[in-house]
Amino acid sequence: MSQKVVTVFPGTGKQGSAVVNALLKDGRYKVRALTRTPDSDTAKDLVKRGCQVVRCDISDSQDEIEKTFKGSDAVFLVTNFWSYWEKEFEYGAKAANAALAAGVKHFVFSSLASPSVISNGEISVPHYDLKYKIEVYARELSKKHPEFITSFIYAPFYMQNFNSFFKLQKCDDGTYSLDMPLDPNTKFPIDLGDVEDIGPIFIGIINNPTKYSGKTVVYSGSALTGDQIAQFLSKYTKVPVKFNYIPPEIFSKNPFEGADEIADMFRFYCKYGKSKQIQAAKAASKTSSSGSAGRKKWGKGRSKDKLNNAVLFDKETYAKLLKEIPTAKVITTAVVSERIKINGSLARRAIRELLSKGLIKQVIRSHGNGVYTKTN
Ligand SMILES: NC(=O)c1ccc[n+]([C@@H]2O[C@H](COP(=O)([O-])OP(=O)(O)OC[C@H]3O[C@@H](n4cnc5c(N)ncnc54)[C@H](OP(=O)(O)O)[C@@H]3O)[C@@H](O)[C@H]2O)c1
Repeated sequence: MSQKVVTVFPGTGKQGSAVVNALLKDGRYKVRALTRTPDSDTAKDLVKRGCQVVRCDISDSQDEIEKTFKGSDAVFLVTNFWSYWEKEFEYGAKAANAALAAGVKHFVFSSLASPSVISNGEISVPHYDLKYKIEVYARELSKKHPEFITSFIYAPFYMQNFNSFFKLQKCDDGTYSLDMPLDPNTKFPIDLGDVEDIGPIFIGIINNPTKYSGKTVVYSGSALTGDQIAQFLSKYTKVPVKFNYIPPEIFSKNPFEGADEIADMFRFYCKYGKSKQIQAAKAASKTSSSGSAGRKKWGKGRSKDKLNNAVLFDKETYAKLLKEIPTAKVITTAVVSERIKINGSLARRAIRELLSKGLIKQVIRSHGNGVYTKTN
């Protein structure tokens, strides 16, 4: 039997590498790894390990992406919000279109639940909401083209984050603290998992296309409170670790881009927990099958409207934003916040939206809060 060709986009990064590693270990697949930099050491190592490495940038045209997918039986796609921000939906939908056009049989997208939909617009977390919007889009493609099977994986908070974004901090007394916006009073522990587990989950999905058609695998390795994570890390690192709660409103003031976004993500975890995400995933799976169950609540019109309007702004605010802000000489978070009557976190997102549309440009760079001006 000929080997299945599986394209992993990107074949680098944490999730992509996990999928490539699992496919290579399994040995039954021809693995094509996409990357923007085929000359990098990571890419060269992939070639040594038996992968075909092909250059691709998700900002490339749909035709170019389609060429890199051609001949693939399955595609794994993970979009990276932190590289292209609000363009995540545009790029993810384009990649799904490219997979369909290339004749890919099974398209597996690393999605996430939608806080905007689950919280009825109370909490928006664009790097979740935009992935869910791509998922809804891919499901629609499958409905129109039943030969194009789509499946979804919801990754938990990676354990690997404790080696990067949430590293232990050394205290003056020699102990360590784990500083996180994880409310100690929440009844929902946070779902964690080793990102490497995404690889075997993906293989399980592509080996059972009928079973997983239109389905979402919501993965959690373990669910722990802040104190339990600290205990676990203490055992693992053999140093005393204490959990230190940083309220989201304080965390959001961190001087890095996206701090507000991460703070909102923790607000969502602590208020809604995993069960709501599982319910939502089940309901979404039902809407993509032919049955009518679940459609009432999650029907395409309603959930799409909620997403379009609630991911960032309602229609009126959005129109005001496009009309009023790009004419100003001096644009800052405070100016946007004051003029459009939105909070600082939304104002920062508004600025990113105007930048991505080329309506404003940056004149002074600073951590998180730059100064911008009109483009013409
Ligand atoms: N951290 C968590 O706990 C967690 C949990 C669930 C979901 N997520 C989601 O995971 C996503 C990130 O995935 P990851 O953690 O695997 O990423 P990662 O390890 O940070 O690596 C980023 C990847 O994005 C690729 N990339 C960046 N810009 C690109 C572009 N323009 N075109 C094509 N590829 C591009 C890079 O590929 P090249 O440089 O090789 O081109 C690289 O492989 C995020 O959207 C996040 O929301 C994260």
